[in-house]
Amino acid sequence: MGIIYCQTDRTFTIHTMTTTYQMKVDDYGFLLHLYYGKKVTGCMDYLLTYYDRGFSGNPYDAGNDRTYSMDSLPQEFPCLGNGDYRSVALSVENADGTFSCDLRYRGYEITKGKYRLPGLPAVYADEEEAQTLKIELEDRVTGLQVNLLYGVLTDLDVITRSAEIINGGSGKIYLEKAQSACLDFLYGEYDLITFYGRHAMERNFQRVPVVHGSQVIGSRRGASSHQYNPMMILAEKGTTEDVGCGYAMSFVYSGNFQGEAQKDQFNQTRILMGLQEEMFRYPLEEGETFYCPEVIITFTDKGLNQLSQNLHSCIRHHVCRGKYKETVRPVLINSWEASYFDFSGESIYELAKHAKEADIEMLVMDDGWFGKREDDNSGLGDWYVNEEKLGGTLGDLIQKINDLGIKFGIWIEPEMISEDSDLYRTYPDWALAIPGRAPVRARNQLVLDFSRKEVVDYVYEQICKILDQGNIEYVKWDMNRSLMDIYSVSVKDQGRVMYDYVLGVYEFLERLVQRYPDMLIEGCSGGGGRFDAGMLYYTPQIWCSDNTDAIDRLKIQYGTSFGYPVSAVGSHVSAVPNHQTGRTVSMKTRGITAMAGTFGYELDLGALTKEEKEEVKKQIADYHKYAPLIQNGKYYRLSDPFHDEICAWEFASEDGKEALLNVVMQEIHGNMTVNYVKMRGLNAGEMYQEKNTGKMYSGAALMDAGIPVPVETGEYQGYQLHFEIFE
Ligand code: GLA
Repeated sequence: MGIIYCQTDRTFTIHTMTTTYQMKVDDYGFLLHLYYGKKVTGCMDYLLTYYDRGFSGNPYDAGNDRTYSMDSLPQEFPCLGNGDYRSVALSVENADGTFSCDLRYRGYEITKGKYRLPGLPAVYADEEEAQTLKIELEDRVTGLQVNLLYGVLTDLDVITRSAEIINGGSGKIYLEKAQSACLDFLYGEYDLITFYGRHAMERNFQRVPVVHGSQVIGSRRGASSHQYNPMMILAEKGTTEDVGCGYAMSFVYSGNFQGEAQKDQFNQTRILMGLQEEMFRYPLEEGETFYCPEVIITFTDKGLNQLSQNLHSCIRHHVCRGKYKETVRPVLINSWEASYFDFSGESIYELAKHAKEADIEMLVMDDGWFGKREDDNSGLGDWYVNEEKLGGTLGDLIQKINDLGIKFGIWIEPEMISEDSDLYRTYPDWALAIPGRAPVRARNQLVLDFSRKEVVDYVYEQICKILDQGNIEYVKWDMNRSLMDIYSVSVKDQGRVMYDYVLGVYEFLERLVQRYPDMLIEGCSGGGGRFDAGMLYYTPQIWCSDNTDAIDRLKIQYGTSFGYPVSAVGSHVSAVPNHQTGRTVSMKTRGITAMAGTFGYELDLGALTKEEKEEVKKQIADYHKYAPLIQNGKYYRLSDPFHDEICAWEFASEDGKEALLNVVMQEIHGNMTVNYVKMRGLNAGEMYQEKNTGKMYSGAALMDAGIPVPVETGEYQGYQLHFEIFE
């Protein structure tokens, strides 16, 4: 299998299908990183060089050897205090108040299967699919222990990393910084690819050279955030979609995080991913263990498309769980952009009737059905049904909708509280707020202290009471503001609250998943403000953005596709003019864009013309035809919508026998030049037929010569071409 310990060289080598990762315990017991990249054999310690470098100190036990410095050697888990002045993975305040740490090798263990992390989401795999390497390090002075964990999924070219940090000494210590993974590169020119954004415009692609100094992304918002996604790529200069080396790190965590790329004085590059160090000061009593959330790491020399596909497979098959993990999701209609808060039981039922006519399978009643909630200024926390508004019980409404043959789903926002709510009037100190300070409001709401067990328990009970009122098959779990005013009445050390909050969210979600195993949960945070592999462990799909404009969505979904599979991307056809941008786009193009996701509708179906209704019906029939390919196929980006006039992408079956090519024109000009799209993932030697036109092409022609995109007048034309092998 993939993990080998060589006693002679004292090296640990991890081989996956096409990659090799190697580290070495050196003569002083330091764990040095030797290599990560394309598969190689042998001991790679010849790559290390030793020179006397001014102002780069030497460990005492190196004696007079001034060429040995932690400041220049590549490390596996750098810590503050042993001579490395770069950004470190671990910084500890010891019981005596000092900031120092010196981790040396103690032992290792190789086991079958993949390690789990208590209370945290993590990649899972069968015993035969994965192996775990645990490397134990210790600080012999303080007794601090660090177990580095490596989960190896050979077939996927994925290595996961995490660390257990144990206070094995005496007295209380504080973790000041605890990153989950570090990768050191001895040389090379790299670009850092990250995904920045804002509410309603998430995950924009940014590629910049790694320069001297640090480039840092992260979140201090309590959620992974709209502003920076916790996924980043280090790509060798010149790496394209199809060729070149790239490394991805995806954090399996939904709260504050930090991702960093640092180029040092010797032109070496270090990348780190883990918890945000600001507002983090985690106390560890004697004997206590802290678990660093996991990072998924993957490498390929076959370009960014392959890198994404590695992440897609890992997330689809080894992060997402439950009944819906591999199945096509029901086509749904969501009430939010159909009627916002302005609905009744009757109007919801009407929407369900229209849905039935259009062959939509599920209705989701969004915000506004509970407590006193006629707008977004009140009611959060009061999880009881507004029967007056619904004109009866929730159970009756669900039954009526089910009787139409339509499934029912509902919106919740468990982590929040409105000041104008019974819950706040009863338990004002359940909201995060600093005594003596007025808290920062956002969307006129406060955040519940989910680091407290009794708060999580109470809200969980309330939500279950709702979910037990009828046949609820889907839940949209929303989270509509960032955290601020971090203060929990239940603990003294406030530096733990941000992390404990996320554990509280995870615990709630885990209980929900266990209690309702067949329920489909969609994550959401003002759209895609908590779009990360951590949430996907509980919710196999996440509402991608509050921006439903089909043209803006091209860029948002393009950025999202680098780290996340299409099956995770919540995407709906909405009304025109679009409510966020005012833009008008054809139903066809809106459908094509939404099909690069879980597919559904979010508009007033009753307001559509007869022709539009027919079009919707036809679109849904098309979607059903393509859905298995969309869901199970490989996803290829075929253009760069940030620069190109077109946005093109493709779904190809694993065996390359079927493909769906999607193109949307983003720009139109007079006397337009022609765009060509080259397809991917086909069999070069086979013939393909495009099913709508009957035209024949060879696989090689489609991939190497490409096909022209028609020049038509009219904005935002969309094309969908369906190819099947012709036998
Ligand atoms: C967030 C979500 C929307 C909708 C509203 C309801 O903004 O992203 O889809 O559910 O909340 O308040």
